[in-house]
Formats: sequence, structure tokens, C-alpha cells
Amino acid sequence: MKVKIRGKKHLEGIVAISGSKNSAVAIIPAVILCDEPLTIRNVPDIHDVQTLLDIMQEIGCGIDYKDNVLKVTPAKKLNYRIQSEKVKKLRGSYYFMGSFLGKIHKISIFSSGGCNLGNRPINYHLDGFRKLGAKIQETDHQIFLKAHKLTGTEIDLGFPSVGATINLMLAAVRAKGTTVIRNCAIEPEITDVGDFLIAMGGDIQGLGTPTITIEGVKRLHSCDYTIISDRIEAGTYLILGAIATGKGITVKEIDPKFLISLTDTLIAIGCDITISEKEITVRRTKPLTPCSIVTKPYPGFPTDLGQIITVLMTQIEGTSQMKETIFSNRFSHIEELKKMGANLSLLDDTIYVSGITPLKSANLYAYDLRGAAALVLAATLNRGNTIIDNIDVLLRGYEKPIEKLQGIGLKIELLE
Ligand code: EPU
Repeated sequence: MKVKIRGKKHLEGIVAISGSKNSAVAIIPAVILCDEPLTIRNVPDIHDVQTLLDIMQEIGCGIDYKDNVLKVTPAKKLNYRIQSEKVKKLRGSYYFMGSFLGKIHKISIFSSGGCNLGNRPINYHLDGFRKLGAKIQETDHQIFLKAHKLTGTEIDLGFPSVGATINLMLAAVRAKGTTVIRNCAIEPEITDVGDFLIAMGGDIQGLGTPTITIEGVKRLHSCDYTIISDRIEAGTYLILGAIATGKGITVKEIDPKFLISLTDTLIAIGCDITISEKEITVRRTKPLTPCSIVTKPYPGFPTDLGQIITVLMTQIEGTSQMKETIFSNRFSHIEELKKMGANLSLLDDTIYVSGITPLKSANLYAYDLRGAAALVLAATLNRGNTIIDNIDVLLRGYEKPIEKLQGIGLKIELLE
């Protein structure tokens, strides 16, 4: 699928932020752990969620999903063999490993997919599963995990991995005894998944800190849970607000404390920012100053906004830089931005951007989710038509981006 954008710098208005993708893609597989029907609200209508719901149905769960409300009835009997090839379409499908291990102590599943951001090993997940008592067999494309029983243990993660922290919480929540996970990630989405498990009766302490302690419980019960809003979606529109020349872009339904690293950066380079309880507004009223950004685990600057902020850097006089420290190859947008006339270069893990460069229209290709978002923002900067091919990758993780961008004044349409 392609998208056509007729650029316009004068964009302004309010964008309502949807539920968090990275919470939803973990919370949906986590539902497997529960023995009763339950309701989850603020579930974003994105392709990754649709894919997971298809897999849940194939597993035998009853699914009712409309208006961002998801009602799930557990499968009567779980087959440990997940045959669905859809697992290969996204990263979050690897959370079935933790939830199946936690519930029925075994699973056979294809390796998960997701954006190609360089090598993405899952050794910390597997080491943790082993410590909990699982035996693991792997082939090139498939993984089989089996435990006689899961017993609480102490796990030290070599890196505060988001995926490993969540997967190990899922496996440990119904294990026998106490599990302590150290050096865990503290992203808000991890706290969200933990709060969901607690709402089902899980016993978890230390969420949002580097040490999480889980006291295993025998069963998890029904709940009615609301997913937090998507800080990366909000950050994307805020960066657009810093690029655009209108009266400002406001994101609403977002907790501003999740975005402090971004709002601090935008303030430091000269943007006007207004923050209230659930809203942030960004306005560009004067020339901005160059910046140097290093992506870090939360609460540092998020890797998921790294590619996107390099587009803003093209509109700042002087040289800015963005060092990517989380993934080895999150740079697919660079060659595409160069086709538009942007002055970017990559040295080791750092992108250097010299501005200000006017961006011209071009035919572009989106390789990954956040790279696609970067290209969309770049396309707003010239008055010609920009075509972006493979825009499907954007729809994997942003809810209703076409409608939301049209709502702030952009001429954008999907082409089949
Ligand atoms: N890593 C290992 N071994 C592991 C796990 C991770 O070496 O067992 C390395 C990874 O290769 C990477 C680093 O540790 O270099 C961080 O990986 P992490 O596990 O934290 O990331 P993830 O779980 O694969 C999630 C999000 C990403 C987000 C990162 C970092 C989901 C489904 N994905 O990925 O989201 O960038 O955390 O915050 O939650 C996106 O939304 O565009 C996206 C890629």
C-alpha cells in the first residue's frame, strides 16, 4: 500500500492519542494466563493488534473487539502448538512464550518477526525461562519450551530489555514461589503490563524500578483494565508540532511525565511547550538551535523517536546529531531522506544532520514502523506530492494516522 502526501508546513490542531501499542501487544498474549472472561479498554486499532487477535482466535479464544474495547473469553483447552504463521509478522508474538509457559508449561511457536532493526536476539528471555525451570529446543524458525513445573528464582538481566522483563513477568506470575528480576526495564509499558497482571490477581512489587519481585499465585481472575496511552505516538505528533508553522499541535489523553526526555529536548532547542495534566502543546515560534541526542532505555530519550527527530534536525540551522544506542541498525530512513535533499550522514551509530535543507518531493519506501513515521513528517515539509511505498508498516503501529493527520490540516490519502 502507498500513501500520497501533499506537503504543507502550516499544520495545527489537536490529536487524541490512542492506546499504547507496546502495552497492547503484550497484554493481549498475557490474557492467556487468565481463567475467566475479561475486558480490556483503549486497545489501539492497529495491524499488530489485529494480527494478535487473529492468532488468539486460532488458539481458540473468543474475541469481541469493537470501538477499542476488547472482550476475551479464554479458550476451553489450549493446544501448546501455535501453528499460526502470523506469529512471524510481529515482535510482540513472542509474549505467547511467557504466557503459555505460565499457564500450561509448554509451547511450540515460530520465531517472532517485527521491524528489522539489526540483530534482535532473545537470549535474556530464554536464560530467564531456563532459570524458572524450562527446557528449550530451538531450530532456525521455531522454538519449543517445556517445564515440568515453574519455580520462582532470581534473574539478573544483562541489559534492561523490555521484552525479556515482560516475558519473564508473564512466566513467573503463576510460578511456585518468589521470582526476583534485577536490572529490569522500567518503561511505562512494563508497569502497564504488570498492573494488568495485578488487576487479574497477580502479586507483583517494584514495577517502575529496576527490581521486580513476583510472588506466584495459583490462578488469575477476570478484570476490566484500561491500557495507557501511547507515548511514542504522542511524541511523533509533538515532533511534527516542532516542524510545522501553525499555531501549535496539541496531543491529548497522554500522561506528560512519560515524555519528559522529549519535552525537555524540545524546550532546550527553543520550542514553546505548554503542559497540563493530560495534554502537551508544541509550537515553533522562533529559529531552533541544534541538538545532540543519545537514545537510552526509559527514562532516557526513546529509540522509537530517534529516526523521527532527525527530520526535525533537517529544519534546524547548523549540525545536530542523534546517537542510536539500543538497536544496531535503526537507520533505514537515511537514504530515503537523502532522496528528498536532506543532508544526513551516518558514522558508526550516530546520524549527523546539517540544516536547514528544504526537502523536495520524491518517491520513497518505508522499511520499518518509525522510519515510516519519519518519512511522513518529512513529506509535510514540501508543497509537492510525496509518495511513500510500503506504508503498511506505519499502520502496524499507529492508529488512524491518515484521519489524525487530515484533522490537523494535512492532505494525505492512501493509495491501494
Ligand atoms: N536484547 C538482547 N537480548 C535479549 C533481549 C534484548 O541482546 O534477550 C537487546 C536487543 O537486541 C536490543 C536491546 O537489547 O539491542 C533492547 O531490546 P529490548 O528487548 O528492550 O527491545 P524489544 O523488546 O525487542 C521493545 C519494543 C520496541 C522498542 C524497544 C526499546 C515491543 C514489541 N517492542 O522491543 O518497539 O524500541 O522495546 O524500547 O514492545 C517500536 O515500537 O517501533 C519498537 C521497535
